Amino acid sequence: MPTPQEWIHPEHLMSQSSDAKALLLAEKKLASLVENGLLLSREKDRDVLLRHILYGGREIAQCAIGTLFLKTEHNTLAFAMRTNDQALPSLELPLSLPDGGPNEKFVVTYAVNHNKTVIIDDVYSETRFDLSGTKRFSEESGIRTVSILTVPLSPRDGEVIGALQLINALHENTGEVVPFPRELIGFIEAMASQSAVALENQTLLEAQKVLINSLIKLVASAIDAKSAHTGGHCERVPELAMMLAEEAVKVADGPLAEFGFHSEEEWDEFRIGAWLHDCGKVTTPEYVVDKATKLETIYNRIHEVRMRFEVLLRDAEIAKLKNIIGGQPAAAAEATYAACVAQLKDDFAFIAECNIGGEFIAAEKVERIRSIGKHTWMRHFDDRIGLSSDELKRHGTTPAPALPVPEWLLADKESHRIPRRRSESTLNPKFGFQVKVPKDLYNMGEIYNLSIARGTLTEEERFKINDHIIQTITMLDTLPLPKHLKRIPEYAGTHHETLIGTGYPCRLTAQELSIPSRIMAIADIFEALTASDRPYKKAKTLSESVAILSYFKRDHHIDPDLFALFLTSGVYRRYAARFLNPEQIDEVDISRYLG
Ligand SMILES: [Fe+2]
Ligand SMILES: [Fe+2]
Repeated sequence: MPTPQEWIHPEHLMSQSSDAKALLLAEKKLASLVENGLLLSREKDRDVLLRHILYGGREIAQCAIGTLFLKTEHNTLAFAMRTNDQALPSLELPLSLPDGGPNEKFVVTYAVNHNKTVIIDDVYSETRFDLSGTKRFSEESGIRTVSILTVPLSPRDGEVIGALQLINALHENTGEVVPFPRELIGFIEAMASQSAVALENQTLLEAQKVLINSLIKLVASAIDAKSAHTGGHCERVPELAMMLAEEAVKVADGPLAEFGFHSEEEWDEFRIGAWLHDCGKVTTPEYVVDKATKLETIYNRIHEVRMRFEVLLRDAEIAKLKNIIGGQPAAAAEATYAACVAQLKDDFAFIAECNIGGEFIAAEKVERIRSIGKHTWMRHFDDRIGLSSDELKRHGTTPAPALPVPEWLLADKESHRIPRRRSESTLNPKFGFQVKVPKDLYNMGEIYNLSIARGTLTEEERFKINDHIIQTITMLDTLPLPKHLKRIPEYAGTHHETLIGTGYPCRLTAQELSIPSRIMAIADIFEALTASDRPYKKAKTLSESVAILSYFKRDHHIDPDLFALFLTSGVYRRYAARFLNPEQIDEVDISRYLG
């Protein structure tokens, strides 16, 4: 504590005023530091963050120029950003020498390698480092570099991730280039440390985001790879959905005017939802997705059925020979045999045709399938050996009949029915699924399958196909989604709903379907219509696909305004140019579908 005499001593007065000045400066710098810290912790955009670090550093240090260096994955320092307009050098400074030792040639590599601040008061009298680059920069920029402060960017006790290099400290009053004031160093170092933490957090977040996106794409490509019938679908739907969403956010009037994604996070939420829209397909057995004929399970069972016809043909031949041996006139026996063979061939051709599933099967055809099935053949072998335990269980507990035993040519047996596990019989009520769950998981009955009225899928298999969306919703519901991604299940899980409550799995109506959900429905349908990489299916032309899509609009399955936007914005054309084969792309008269 100074004595009263000391208080009035002129020297003390001087030191008091310089103390006050230093205090003021410290206060100012602390305030900048706190403000900078807040800015850094809030910033999510990497470029903006780097900018804050660089310009914040220059502001606190009150200097002319700043350069930010970042450590690369291959142990070099790259120029990341600079405060003046000059283009950044593309060269990178190696942090180690060819012999493995640390590169101490440059100020910045030294600072990073040693995690140490380096202060140079006068570049031209500096002998420790190679400053030829700095001097060259001075010549090129016309700004003579005098003082340099290089601060490593390192979270406290963490790895150095880069460096902030500040050039030419400026005198507070005169603006003259001066050495960096030593009392500032602590502030700059504190700021560099804050920056390093913010950058490191941001890098970690970015890496996690990249990882999540890769995992999402991995799921989508696994589904696309699973079946040639849906190949590329999961990858193209998000592309189309994003294209249409980008147009929808631009609409300024009409029913779409209110729609918008207001942040990068909302876009991410939609993009991820689109990428995962069919993720439930991982649970759909390939044989159901790819079922190309009615008797197909893992393979086409027509071969099994044909073999029975072969057996019947041989039986007929044996009967003929036995009849001849028994004294029947050969001509009569031959005639009976020939008639039988002709009938068998005709019947088999009919069954084979039914198996294709190309045409509608009318009631009389079903009747003929049944009556052909009533032919019998003799089984001499035990049909309960060589089976898996599951298969054996399906035979039930009835004792095996004595052999030989007559078998139907075609049959629906108990052993053809694959029961649904109890846990799969009821759906979780929390999702509000409005679907009828078939009693059996599968029914492989031969007559049952051959009698499928349209296509190749039984009711059970059709359910299995549609079940992918139930699985999508259920699977996504189990994810611990952060707040900004909460709508992913909605975006992913509504693309099979219609505006009039006839869709699945929840029979939602227009009021319950958001614009992004409606965009997803259009993207899903249009991709499937235009896909050219599906087997057994000729690719539709662009005009055919648009015409079919218009029927979905007519039937109130898809949103009419989005459909119109899809056409008027040219999204259909741009999508076609990117993803359709040139021969698919024809003229579309969109005026036919508008208004
Ligand atoms: Fe789907
Ligand atoms: Fe889909």
